[in-house]
Formats: sequence, C-alpha cells, structure tokens
Amino acid sequence: MRAEKLFGLLGYPIGHSLSPVMQNDQFSNQGLPFFYHAFNVPTENLKEAVEGFKALGISGFNVTVPHKIEVMKYLDEVDEEAQIIGAVNTVVNQNDKWIGYNTDGRGYVESLLNKTGDTLKDSNILVIGAGGAARAVVTALSFEGVRHLAITNRTYSKAESLKERVPHHSNISVLTTEEAEKETPAYDIIINTTSVGMSPETDKTPWRTDNLKENCLCSDLIYNPLKTKWLAEAESNGADTLNGVGMFVGQGAFAFYKWTGVWPDLNRMNDVVMQHLGGK
Ligand code: ATR
Repeated sequence: MRAEKLFGLLGYPIGHSLSPVMQNDQFSNQGLPFFYHAFNVPTENLKEAVEGFKALGISGFNVTVPHKIEVMKYLDEVDEEAQIIGAVNTVVNQNDKWIGYNTDGRGYVESLLNKTGDTLKDSNILVIGAGGAARAVVTALSFEGVRHLAITNRTYSKAESLKERVPHHSNISVLTTEEAEKETPAYDIIINTTSVGMSPETDKTPWRTDNLKENCLCSDLIYNPLKTKWLAEAESNGADTLNGVGMFVGQGAFAFYKWTGVWPDLNRMNDVVMQHLGGK
C-alpha cells in the first residue's frame, strides 16, 4: 500500500524506540494509509533534518532524547504548554508551518486518570525529581488541577525553578527530602520522575515505602524494568502501582490525535508495546 502521509521520529540513538511499531500498528488498525519511520539523527544534523522534513512534505514527527529542547529553535511556533515545559516531543505540519507540542505530560495524566478512574482534584501528590520528565508531569498536573502538589529533588534549587515555571503555582510547594519524607503518609499519589531504579541500576529505590498512606498510588515513570524495585516494595506495603508504559503510550496517543484528528485505540497501543517489552 502506498503511504499518503509520512511521519517521523528524530532521536539519537534511536534503535530501541517502540514508537514506529506502536504508531504503524495504529495507522493500519484505523485504516489510515500512513507510515512512521525512526530517523537516527545526531545533534549536528538536527537543523538540516527538520528543514529536510519540510522540503520532503513530512506531515509530522516526534522528537526524543537528546533533541527535545534544541528542536524548538527550528520550529515556526511552540504551543503554550510546551513552552512552559521547555521541550517539544511532537511536531505537526500545519499549512507548511512546523508547530511544536509536548504530549508527554498529557500522556502521563491520561494514564494516571485511567488508573485512578477519577479526577485528581482532591489528590495530594508528591513528585520526586525536577528534570525534564518532572517538568512535563508537573505542568500537565497543574493544567489538570490537583488539590496540592509537592516537589522534592536531590538538588533543591531545581525544584524551586520548576515551581516558578508553572503559571498557577499557589498549590505547589517545594520540600527538602527530609520534609517530604515526613509528609509521606499524607500523599495520595507519589510519582518518581528520576532515573533511580532504571536498568541497569535496578537495585536502587527513589523513596521509602514503609510509611505510605493507605491506598496510596506509587507511580514510576520508568518502564525498564516494567516493575522497578520501588514499585515491588510499594506493592508489598499495600500500595497500588503504575509503571511508565502508560505515559509512553499516552504521549504517543496524543501525538497520533494531533496528526490524524482520530483518537487511537489506547488498549491496542498498550498491548503492542507490552508485547515488545516482553510483558503481558
Ligand atoms: P529526565 O529528562 O529523564 O527527567 P534529567 O532532566 O537529567 O532527566 O533529570 C533527572 C532527575 O533525576 C533530576 O531531578 C535528578 O536530580 P538532580 O536535579 O539533583 O540531578 C534526578 N536524579 C538522577 N539521579 C539521581 C539520584 N541518584 N538520586 C536522586 N535523584 C536523582
């Protein structure tokens, strides 16, 4: 079948990405004659790649590590949420203009809402970390509206800067590790946005789980491994858990929607990813 629209992914290195298999499966499932390809592009070629995509009539693309910040220089517009986050992961060709978005945070919130089946308006949430992933998550949570959000980070000043980035931050507080540890029994949801516990350092945990609130949800953005040591510990202490697969699928779903105007089959996207990750 001839592909009528082409979509891409820019990253370096790109070999492990599950986006092509997830997006192409969804295109064919929706009967869309589109194709998605991952391009391994080092930083020194990023500008030419973005210009080349436009010259070739590419309809849109995703951006991943290490280009999410740098790519903003080469776009025609960047939407408000992506500007606050300070990074773009999804680009749409609108009338020959590259418009940049960030669907990471929205994708995460979608996976969280699917898990809780509820609004987050009454939730008291702790976010561990203040890097790129935390920026996306905190921004999207603030747009969604939560009762209270605390940020704690090894480097305190980065957590303070993150709070300042978010326009409406009266319900956001910044805590030292010690302060946040004391408050642990008060949180409904604890989100690890750091890389602590990610393969190959799978024996590390980012937070204690022996003083969690009853029915606390521990959410790790990591999906390699699918169940981090932290999630396993949280589970054995009675917590509900959520791994990072939902965020990956969610960001892809919002990108798919921006490109096609069609909301994809989230369960099917999730199944495709899980098959490739060796899960259920
Ligand atoms: P990403 O884009 O994946 O979020 P990042 O921007 O490099 O990556 O941010 C990594 C986050 O994990 C930071 O909050 C970092 O803490 P610092 O700001 O103090 O560097 C946190 N992090 C990484 N390794 C950590 C460790 N061993 N212990 C605690 N926090 C760690």
